[in-house]
Amino acid sequence: MYTTILTDLKDGIFTITINRPDKLNALNNAVFTDLDGAINEVYTNVAIKSAIITGAGNKSFVAGADISEFSSYNKEEAITLSKRGQFIFSKIENSPKPIVAAVNGFALGGGCELAMACHFRICSENAKFGQPEVNLGLIPGYGGTQRLTQLIGKSKSMELQMTAQLINAEEALQLKLVNHITTAENLIMKTTEILQLIQTKAPIAISKIIECVNTAVLSDSAYTNGKSGYEKEAEAFGDCFNTQDMKEGTSAFMEKRTAKFKGL
Ligand code: COA
Repeated sequence: MYTTILTDLKDGIFTITINRPDKLNALNNAVFTDLDGAINEVYTNVAIKSAIITGAGNKSFVAGADISEFSSYNKEEAITLSKRGQFIFSKIENSPKPIVAAVNGFALGGGCELAMACHFRICSENAKFGQPEVNLGLIPGYGGTQRLTQLIGKSKSMELQMTAQLINAEEALQLKLVNHITTAENLIMKTTEILQLIQTKAPIAISKIIECVNTAVLSDSAYTNGKSGYEKEAEAFGDCFNTQDMKEGTSAFMEKRTAKFKGL
């Protein structure tokens, strides 16, 4: 049924594995379609009590949006893409059942945004987090400008997005971006143990905790339909697609060379 993700349901825990290891599990349109379908399953399948999102292979959770798809997009298409990503990630964030990211390796750009949309994150010792979009003449477009700020605070969020620097698992723990670090081998087991514990609690109470905590963290306007910060992000993401620097940044990545930005 899915072509870019693997799913597995065991003891109420639904594991969704992004499965493009040769592209470090980059999020292309097909992944979005499959991920959306899998999240809909979390909402509707009564046998699913909680979910894990992880990446195939031992190198990467998700290394971002698929940059190779960006070259053909104009501003309007980029805004549509941003809103689609925001919509699916918001569905994850507002799921009435717990969804936890098990981050095995790179969680960059859209990968970091996907992990941040989950209710919390467990990572392996080799995990690396970052929002390196500025290297491409771009900004995060799937909620990253909002959720990174909510999770680690304004100053560090600014620095990480402006410098494109990656942080390791220890730094991510210090910044409260992740709740636990474990070995790569134990990552799914540790995540499963926590979800098993949660599954012994009252499901309706759990869903109310998710609702209330989301309300506390998101500003009034950022919650429900008046998502001003997210609207702004989608518009700004689209604006980047009208710049020469974005064409240069994405071409440079595909051609495996350093980008030369001109401020145009
Ligand atoms: N989009 C499309 N393809 C990607 C990708 C992405 N975000 N990230 C990695 N890939 C592809 C590479 O192009 C390469 O494909 P190829 O083998 O066909 O050439 C493959 O995945 C392996 O990646 P590679 O760059 O060779 O691995 P590495 O170990 O040298 O570097 C990273 C790993 C994560 C540092 C590097 O891949 C990277 O910087 N990726 C982009 C991160 C990013 O900017 N994300 C935000 C996107 S908005």
